[in-house]
Amino acid sequence: MRKLVYFIAATLDGFIAGPDGSDPSGPDGFWPIPEDYLEHLIAEYPETLPGPARAALGVTAEGTRFDTVVEGRRSYEIGLDAGLTDAYPHLRHLVVSRTLGESPDPAVELVAGDPVARVRELKQEDGKDIWLVGGGELAASLYGEIDTLILKLSPTTIGAGIPLFGRKAVFEPAAWTLTDHTVLASGTAYLTYERATATVAVTVAD
Ligand SMILES: NC(=O)c1ccc[n+]([C@@H]2O[C@H](COP(=O)([O-])OP(=O)(O)OC[C@H]3O[C@@H](n4cnc5c(N)ncnc54)[C@H](OP(=O)(O)O)[C@@H]3O)[C@@H](O)[C@H]2O)c1
Repeated sequence: MRKLVYFIAATLDGFIAGPDGSDPSGPDGFWPIPEDYLEHLIAEYPETLPGPARAALGVTAEGTRFDTVVEGRRSYEIGLDAGLTDAYPHLRHLVVSRTLGESPDPAVELVAGDPVARVRELKQEDGKDIWLVGGGELAASLYGEIDTLILKLSPTTIGAGIPLFGRKAVFEPAAWTLTDHTVLASGTAYLTYERATATVAVTVAD
């Protein structure tokens, strides 16, 4: 079955964006993108680059991991504000929102109902894994459906911002098993965790 993978850049203190939610990776931003980070992304996850970035970098590789991307309305609006109605034209693209009304792009599916139900349907279909791009609030809504967590961990702390699971996440501990890791010279780490399955103690009677 296809997996839902929360593939996300995070600071050491667990934030995915600064307090105002704006893009922090620009030239004057607090979250610069090291060269080796980008090289690893292009080599391993080329499908996660937005269309304009792929064009600018000459990336044409389809990628092996994802064919579908799901994002929350506030994350989607960052692309919209930059004039992009579909930042990932090379992927099947779904946006979750109760307020958008209709999709600004015929290629982007608006999920106005329960995102958990829609993700469960997607998981039943054939295909590659489903990339949950964020943000934190949607990740909290889909918390129980996330099979894999891939953190692109930046050697930065920011003290405050939008947490990995948003500002309204509830206390719900889960265990994760580290299955892959790449630590780069810049200090960035790509860490892959699979949701740990609960162990069941079985007592066999004599
Ligand atoms: N570090 C990274 O790799 C990365 C990646 C992506 C995003 N980000 C950052 O994440 C921030 C945005 O995250 P966020 O937590 O503020 O917002 P978000 O999760 O992107 O979007 C939240 C919106 O999604 C919709 N939504 C979420 N759960 C829903 C549910 N159960 N049912 C229906 N709709 C639901 C709602 O839209 P409506 O209000 O329209 O109903 C909600 O307001 C941005 O600052 C962005 O830069 C960082």
